[in-house]
Amino acid sequence: MQESIVPLRLLIVGYGNVARSLLPLLASRRTWFEQTLHVTPYISGIGTRHQGFYVYSDGVPADILAQQSDPFVWFRTHGQRMENIEQFITIGASVSASVCIELTTLQPQNGEPARTHIRTALQSGMHVITANKGPVAYAQHELLALARQHHRQFRFESTVMDGFPLLNLKQFTLQAVGIRAFRALLNTTSSLVLSLIEQGRTMQEAIHDAQERGIAEADPSYDLDGWDAAMKTTILANTLLEGNIQPSMVTRESIRTLSLEDIREAARMGTPVRLISEAKYVQNSIVASVHPQKIQANDILLTARGTTSIITLETETMGTMSFVEHEPEVIQTAYGVMSDLIIIQQSQYPEDSTG
Ligand SMILES: NC(=O)c1ccc[n+]([C@@H]2O[C@H](COP(=O)([O-])OP(=O)(O)OC[C@H]3O[C@@H](n4cnc5c(N)ncnc54)[C@H](OP(=O)(O)O)[C@@H]3O)[C@@H](O)[C@H]2O)c1
Repeated sequence: MQESIVPLRLLIVGYGNVARSLLPLLASRRTWFEQTLHVTPYISGIGTRHQGFYVYSDGVPADILAQQSDPFVWFRTHGQRMENIEQFITIGASVSASVCIELTTLQPQNGEPARTHIRTALQSGMHVITANKGPVAYAQHELLALARQHHRQFRFESTVMDGFPLLNLKQFTLQAVGIRAFRALLNTTSSLVLSLIEQGRTMQEAIHDAQERGIAEADPSYDLDGWDAAMKTTILANTLLEGNIQPSMVTRESIRTLSLEDIREAARMGTPVRLISEAKYVQNSIVASVHPQKIQANDILLTARGTTSIITLETETMGTMSFVEHEPEVIQTAYGVMSDLIIIQQSQYPEDSTG
C-alpha cells in the first residue's frame, strides 16, 4: 500500500546566510523526503529581529517558498505578523510546526537570546535544531535535559565543522570508543584570513573576503579573537570527551596578536600559523585551549589548506583518527541542519526510514 505523504512543518528563527541556503536545499530534496520519509518539508513561519515574525498556519511547501525572491514578501502577504519572538514560537508550535530551526547570530558572552528561543521552543513541544554555537556551548546539558523532559530532540550537528557528521559520528558510531583528546582547525575564517595574509593581503582585505563568502561571523572579531573556536572547543569537549566545561574554561588567544610579517615568515619556512583548538583529559579534568600555533611539517593538520577544517581524535580503543572537511561553504552548514532534520524524522518513525 502506498504511504500517504504528510507535511513536516518547520519554524525558522533567523534568516541569514544559513537559512537562505537551507531553503533551496530542502526544495531540491523534496522528492527524497517524500519517497524516503513520506513527508514534504513545509515552512510554517519565519522571522528575524528586523524583518518581523510571521506565521502561516497551513505552512507553505519549502520549494514554493524557495522560488520567491524574498520569502518575507510571501509571508507578509499570506501570513500573520506576530508581536514578538515568544509569540512567534508558541503560536508556531500551536499551528503544528514540529521542528524549530534556530539560526540567529552568535552571541559569545552567554548564548542569549538564542538560549531562550530554544528553551521556549522545547517547552512549546517542538524539536529544535540549531547551527548557533552560543546556546550549545553555554547550556548544552541543560537544553538536552529539557528536550528529554519534553520527549523532544535538541540537535546541533552544524555548530562544529558545518555539515561534517562529527557529533552524529560520536552519537551513532563512536559511542564507546573513549575519546581522550582532540586537536583541530575549526575556525574557517581565521584559516582563510591567515592564508590570504600569507599571499600578501592585509588583515582588513582578508576579513572582507571571508565576509563576502558568507563564512565570517557577523562580528569578525568573534572569529579572529578565538571566540568562535572557543565555542566549538567547548561543544566538542562536552560531546566527544563527554565533559561539562564552560567557554570561560577554554584559554583563548587572538590571531591579531601576530604581525603580518611573522605570519608570512612562518609560511615561508613551511610552518604556517593557524588557530588550533585542543582539549584533553589531564587527571580526569579537561584542559582546553584555542591558540595560534606554528604547524610543523610532519603534523597532519598541515594538510588542511585554505578554509579546510580538520580534526584528530585520540581514542582508547581505535587509536588516532583524523577527519577532514574540504573547503566548506555555507551550503555544508545548511546540510548539517538538514541532516539533523532527517534524524529527527527517522527516529520518530524508524520503520519508515530504511528506504
Ligand atoms: N555561515 C556559516 O557558514 C555558519 C557555519 C556554522 C554555524 N553558523 C552559525 O549559524 C548561525 C546563523 O549564521 P548565518 O551566517 O546565517 O548568520 P547571519 O547571516 O548573520 O544571519 C543571522 C540571522 O539571525 C537574525 N537574528 C539575529 N538576532 C536575532 C534575534 N535576537 N531574534 C531574531 N532574529 C535574530 C538576523 O536577523 P536581522 O538581520 O533581522 O538582525 C539574521 O536574519 C550563527 O549562529 C552562526 O554562528 C554559521
